[in-house]
Amino acid sequence: VPEGFQGYPISQFCIPKHYEDDLECVLIPKGFVLDRTERLARDIFQNLDLSKPIAALCVLKGGYQFFNDLIHFLKQLNANTNRSCQLSIDFIRLKSYEDDQSTGTVKVIGGDDLSNLRDKNVLIVEDMIDTGRTMTKLLTVLEQFKPHKVSVASLLVKRTSRSTGYRPDYIGFEVPDQFVIGYALDYNEYFRDLNHICILNDKGKEKYSL
Ligand code: HPA
Ligand code: MG
Repeated sequence: VPEGFQGYPISQFCIPKHYEDDLECVLIPKGFVLDRTERLARDIFQNLDLSKPIAALCVLKGGYQFFNDLIHFLKQLNANTNRSCQLSIDFIRLKSYEDDQSTGTVKVIGGDDLSNLRDKNVLIVEDMIDTGRTMTKLLTVLEQFKPHKVSVASLLVKRTSRSTGYRPDYIGFEVPDQFVIGYALDYNEYFRDLNHICILNDKGKEKYSL
């Protein structure tokens, strides 16, 4: 998504009525997200050493939509090509954001049985890489469980000067440094119930601020 891209008018999409006044524009329609996710699944499948099981790890809550759709396409590849691989799924939660500012701390919630990741191709599925700090910390934690290989797929990567330079292995879209919501991404727990990836306007930020 190029810098300065104006997005699409929300009047041309199905948007829940309760959010109509809170959005600047649709940045990435859900259909586009799905098409891109299908391609990411293909790339992941092609690059993986399928002799080891895949352990897909969803970073909740924001990653759940992307995770669901990515797994859907991976399962399709597993079923319809002559290469296939055992695929397990697990869910973890990290808390690192309050309001739209990074607090700089990462709390890992859940994530029991991480020792199951030993000798597997771990695929971390995340909604957003912002500074990259959270993911770098998570990778350090996971390495202790001796996975065969860890790959990271992030639906979005922010183009921001605050970035540490960290780049995930698979990127859905690079987006400008604005607050985006929808498709499970939230602003203080609101807007997860929005299909498209949208930009929040000032009114929405104010209305749902803590
Ligand atoms: N949207 C939702 N969550 C986020 C964002 C964003 O733009 N940046 C960091 N966490
Ligand atoms: Mg996240």
